[in-house]
Amino acid sequence: MKLNVEAVRACYPALADGYAYLDGAAGTQVPTVVIEAISAAQAAGLGNSGGVFPASHRADSITADCRAAIAALTGGDADGIVLGPNMTTLTYRMAGALASTWAPGDEVVVSRLDHDANIRPWVQAAERAGATVRWAEVDFETGELPAAQYGELIGDRTRLVAVTAASNLIGTRPDVAAITAMAHSVGALSYVDGVHATPHQPVDVAALGADFYATSAYKWSGPHIGAVVAEPALLDTLHPDKLVPSPDAVPERFELGTPSFASLAGVTAAVHHLASLSEAGGSDAVTLRERVLSSMAAVERHEQELFGVLLAGLDSLNHVRTYGRAVSRTATAYFTVAGRTPRQVAEHLATRKINVWHGDNYAWELTGALGIRDSGSAVRAGLVHYNDSTEVERLIAAIAEL
Ligand SMILES: Cc1ncc(COP(=O)(O)O)c(C=O)c1O
Repeated sequence: MKLNVEAVRACYPALADGYAYLDGAAGTQVPTVVIEAISAAQAAGLGNSGGVFPASHRADSITADCRAAIAALTGGDADGIVLGPNMTTLTYRMAGALASTWAPGDEVVVSRLDHDANIRPWVQAAERAGATVRWAEVDFETGELPAAQYGELIGDRTRLVAVTAASNLIGTRPDVAAITAMAHSVGALSYVDGVHATPHQPVDVAALGADFYATSAYKWSGPHIGAVVAEPALLDTLHPDKLVPSPDAVPERFELGTPSFASLAGVTAAVHHLASLSEAGGSDAVTLRERVLSSMAAVERHEQELFGVLLAGLDSLNHVRTYGRAVSRTATAYFTVAGRTPRQVAEHLATRKINVWHGDNYAWELTGALGIRDSGSAVRAGLVHYNDSTEVERLIAAIAEL
């Protein structure tokens, strides 16, 4: 099934401003259905959770629908979807809860491929618990995170392995299933950062072996909401800091304060939007999960095809150097241009109405490992489902001007 990119683009009012939004890895635009769902939730009247009147019931059913939608997107259990403002906040929360079960001498494995949000919460929690941090390294030449090294890194004292499903900088998709299998073989848990991966491919948390899978809706056409997917039984073993009167049930136990109910309605709309992207998605005969899987497979094919054109274009320019050439990657290019700082490149592209990011994009350890952090790192141009070939051609032409 092929994406009809023109039809997809028509769903996104922001794309009409003439800019090429190649900044999707830092956050996507939202389709009209999401904007309308947020607005409709507010217009209908919303109360707080757990009341006995209709506006409160509406808030509770919005929350339940949101958990069900994220479960459909990831293959998780709706009763194990922890909601929060973003992945970073939730990961600090999970790190606090998990670290309270660690003892001095326990070990935690993190990787230099990861966004800092899946490194620092674990490093700081380990420090407090007296646990040792072990580092998985990136192959400088290829940008791969070789799974084999985990055989050495994981041992009897390993309690947690934190690894990304895809690098937000160079797109590398490590062999997460192999890594989590090694973690499980010694009884350790896995925390998989799915923030960058989720918008680019079908996701199945069980196939990944992710005990915890973190994702952020604003990376996949939704509003600014984060979620952690886990088995309810696993969540039940953890006891995060919480208020005395707040619900102790799972997953509510992990959720602090009053959520943005209207945004949760937007998240549900975003999942339904993703499910509708492929032509096969229109059929009522299949479940939301099946429609999402079919759509995300089409999204992945579209992005990879366009990525081939983007990489070939960058490679054709002698003054451009690209980083990362992992065998399995999301459509995320990271590059420098000779004689220009990454910021200057991004500024030039902005004058050509092309949005890209420059800098480390919080993949702090990775830019250090690549040896480019001190020089301002590089420029990131990422593709998502609504990007098309004319945008890629504009990017290459604008870089050629430099
Ligand atoms: C791979 C990855 N992990 C984690 C994060 C942090 O996500 P959030 O902004 O939801 O805290 C990001 C954000 O860019 C990301 O790209």
